[in-house]
Amino acid sequence: MKKICFIVAMQAEADPLIGHFGLKSLGAVFSPAPCHVFQGIYKDLEITLVTNGKDDGTGLDYVGCEAATLTAQLAIAHYCPDLVVNAGTAGGFASKGACVGDVYLSHKYIVFHDRRVGVPGWDRMGKGYYPCIDSDSLARSGGFKQGICTTGSSLDMIAEDAVQMQQTGGEIKDMEAAAIAWVAQLHHTPLLCVKSITDLVGAEKPTASQFRENLNMATRRLGEACFKIVDEYWADDRL
Ligand code: ADE
Repeated sequence: MKKICFIVAMQAEADPLIGHFGLKSLGAVFSPAPCHVFQGIYKDLEITLVTNGKDDGTGLDYVGCEAATLTAQLAIAHYCPDLVVNAGTAGGFASKGACVGDVYLSHKYIVFHDRRVGVPGWDRMGKGYYPCIDSDSLARSGGFKQGICTTGSSLDMIAEDAVQMQQTGGEIKDMEAAAIAWVAQLHHTPLLCVKSITDLVGAEKPTASQFRENLNMATRRLGEACFKIVDEYWADDRL
């Protein structure tokens, strides 16, 4: 049986997938790590979905690279999936043709944009350039855009981040993809990122209010995209 593992930061991003695939909560299987596991059989695929879990102090979902790294390591080592899908929301760039609600698939490689290590060799290592699967046919059949995912630890963006994005070609800005991609690469596990755009970076309206306003719509689109991708994965032996 083929196994897919979704790694998702926020519960709101995960809810449509848990409902559609009929996944059952297994709880905080890796406690004291905060991640939360959901699992089920859909068609004849074993689907595991792992969220980062919540911070006890604030009651909020953990976002960012530390939680994503921990979740990815535990999930991939334990469930040994054939494919990891990092599903989530992201910022896009109007200058690169992005619109709020667009769904992008990862493309070419995945990078960081806020690692400033000005030593030859380590500068490249800091950016990552981690592999992802060829998403061309999924993008064509599902009508999705494709873009280079770029990850940092902040929702906003400073000028130096923009310089790094110019160097790497990064165009889909999130807070987890590269961390997960690093772990997937260590395990030689194929990775696809599916990112739904909640906000346009550099728009007049602040990123945080765009994010809050568009989160529901973007998570619905994210879910619909993931349903199509799973059906395609199930039907296509080449994936
Ligand atoms: N998630 C959603 N929007 C984002 C942005 N602009 N930057 C980083 N992560 C995000």
